[in-house]
Amino acid sequence: SILPVIMAGGSGTRMWPLSRSQYPKQFLTLCDSFSMIQSTVERLTGLEAFGINSDNSVVICNNDHRFIVAEQLRRIDKPAGSIILEPVGRNTAPAIALAALNALNQGNDPVLLVLAADHVIQDKDVFHQSVKHALSYAEENQLVTFGIEATAPETGYGYIQRGSEVSLEGDDDCLGYSVARFVEKPDQKTAEEYLASGEYYWNSGMFMFKASRYLEELKLHRPDILEACEQSLAGSSIDLDFLRLDDEAFAKCPDESIDYAVMEKTDQAVVVPMAAGWSDVGSWSSLWDVEKKNADGNVLKGDVISQSTGNSYVHSESRLVATVGVDDLVIVETKDAVLVAHKDSVQDIKSVVSTLKKEG
Ligand code: GDD
Ligand code: MG
Repeated sequence: SILPVIMAGGSGTRMWPLSRSQYPKQFLTLCDSFSMIQSTVERLTGLEAFGINSDNSVVICNNDHRFIVAEQLRRIDKPAGSIILEPVGRNTAPAIALAALNALNQGNDPVLLVLAADHVIQDKDVFHQSVKHALSYAEENQLVTFGIEATAPETGYGYIQRGSEVSLEGDDDCLGYSVARFVEKPDQKTAEEYLASGEYYWNSGMFMFKASRYLEELKLHRPDILEACEQSLAGSSIDLDFLRLDDEAFAKCPDESIDYAVMEKTDQAVVVPMAAGWSDVGSWSSLWDVEKKNADGNVLKGDVISQSTGNSYVHSESRLVATVGVDDLVIVETKDAVLVAHKDSVQDIKSVVSTLKKEG
């Protein structure tokens, strides 16, 4: 069987001021009528034939967000099978380990379909096809990642170098390649080289592997993370639909993403290309990228008037916002904070948030 595992513990600071620590971006309704986490779960409908149950997913999130998660999934009639609560964020390597260990503790060894809670995927059918291909590899004990055709030297992504084709017995149309190299968030110059070579995909941040297979690999490369997760579960308790970890044990867990902890280190991975109109809504400019624009290239949300304005994202929550004679801006107005940024600088918004945190 396949178990959807949804990682929803990120802080989404680059989407400030809409994304707040009490309400990070995966819970916001940004591009359609669903919040990002609702879309993530909704996107699984239609995969039942491959053994996925979209109303039985595992969500891993911060303790503070437990009611938001439960309520948002209930509202679309896809309640989570279980919700694992982290007292603090320790990034994705531990989060996935918790889901894998928890499944094994219940006597199952499912194929995990690991999903980020903040992606846009335009073509659901193509996504389903890729999942189907990935499943064949995962069942053969491979660690599968989904590769996106790289179109710019983005430094916020992992890069996957395509190796040789990996064939599957009795399945000729399965298209996957061995991962020759995986490099998480390279610097600008390296990203440009990778892009020019034409040999690299972006890592989509979604993965598929058997629970036991991931843990085996984690044990090899980061036994310290595995051990901390085992101890956090050993001292855990069940509270309604929630699984509460042993706070003290989890606080001791190293903070690392799956990309650094496992994907960069393993030599056992397969990349399945996915051309499904994928986008990581990681910043205001990437949101502008995926949204429908008017004739001047603007995305205008809420009460906004724009004159001689081009290629901008303007979002008003509570007041009228007017723009005149400006280009390439991101303007986000909320009740208590207003952001005005150049579209090329939106990656730096996270440092505004850290300054705010320091000043309390
Ligand atoms: N439960 C839990 N706990 N979830 C987390 C945590 C955590 O501590 N930290 C992050 N997440 C969730 C986020 O909510 C998001 O859904 C997902 O895990 C990925 O985390 P990001 O912080 O958004 O990662 P990234 O965008 O910097 O990088 C990853 O995604 C890229 C594509 O979007 C990497 O996998 C890259 O290689 C990849 O290219
Ligand atoms: Mg991301």
